Amino acid sequence: MQQVYSLFMHKLPVGVLGASGYAGRELCALISQHPGLSLAFATANSQAGTTAELPGGERIEFITKEAAPVGDVALVFSALPHGASREWVERARTAGARVVDLSNDLRIGNGSNGVPYGLTEARRDTIRGAELVANPGCYPTAILLALLPLVESGLIAPGATISVAAASGVTGAGLTPRLDLLFGEVTENFRAYGVGNTHRHLNEMRALLAEHGADCDLLFTPHLLPTARGILATITVPVTSVPDDLLGVWRRRYVGERFVEIVDSMPELRHVVHRNTVRISAVAAAHLRQPTLLVFSAIDNLVKGAAGQAVQNANLMLGLEETQGLPA
Ligand SMILES: NC(=O)c1ccc[n+]([C@@H]2O[C@H](COP(=O)([O-])OP(=O)(O)OC[C@H]3O[C@@H](n4cnc5c(N)ncnc54)[C@H](OP(=O)(O)O)[C@@H]3O)[C@@H](O)[C@H]2O)c1
Repeated sequence: MQQVYSLFMHKLPVGVLGASGYAGRELCALISQHPGLSLAFATANSQAGTTAELPGGERIEFITKEAAPVGDVALVFSALPHGASREWVERARTAGARVVDLSNDLRIGNGSNGVPYGLTEARRDTIRGAELVANPGCYPTAILLALLPLVESGLIAPGATISVAAASGVTGAGLTPRLDLLFGEVTENFRAYGVGNTHRHLNEMRALLAEHGADCDLLFTPHLLPTARGILATITVPVTSVPDDLLGVWRRRYVGERFVEIVDSMPELRHVVHRNTVRISAVAAAHLRQPTLLVFSAIDNLVKGAAGQAVQNANLMLGLEETQGLPA
């Protein structure tokens, strides 16, 4: 068995905590293809001691997090579950490593204590050179990147309720076995979950919108898609008026952004899966008294919604080219 260690001195060694999970596996795959990073360790819990194949055929062995040399790497990605991550983020920081935390634990609206929020296209200046970054949730990435240009342009009707119906593939739920996520329960089926505007991602979305000066409520209903990966969000936004050049609001905001695509057609999952890209479009809704926009946003929950954005942030933290090693 061949283990992957940082054999190449010109590459910065990084480690992944929770590497056997969905987000962690995606991280390991991206790191293995990254020109400036090398995978120094990969941890698992119940799967510790097992091995996995990386793109290109190399194999890694999952070690326990207790055995991980967190002080010997330039940066640690934590893809541990909520609650379990915070302690290990602190241990890695104490040992001197920079950290990108993919969990909820340190995100804005969840006790972040000033930790930069890693929505890269919105917070690049606070991420560049940072020692610790809280990577956003998958739904918030799709929804906030679609909403921010409207917030910043002042178009949202004061006091409006923004309604979001979004659907995610089942990898969004992680790989812990659950009866309601069995193939027979998910395939050829479609349902809402987390109903009642209570989903845990609401905290970070509300907090970020408030920081950007939005005066609105957010009503968010997630749905479970019978696919492995991908998120599509349909966002209903009451506005003060509909601009003649509607998509210009997003095109101007995201000019030069490599990982944002503003399109005339409807964003589809097949256009974004396995890519670190968000696709956004919008139309005006007909036959309503209140001017209203329908905004559509699609991402791969495991790439732009997790591991890809985490690598994008790590690149900025480590002084590398932001786009390095990422599938646009
Ligand atoms: N899935 C997504 O689309 C997505 C998107 C954005 C952010 N995230 C965040 O990324 C993190 C990982 O999510 P995931 O979906 O990849 O979860 P997952 O598939 O359930 O993987 C969790 C990982 O953590 C390990 N683990 C579980 N409990 C542990 C413990 N007590 N101590 C140490 N390691 C433990 C697991 O090891 P074993 O496999 O050995 O049990 C596995 O490697 C979460 O915080 C999640 O919120 C996920």
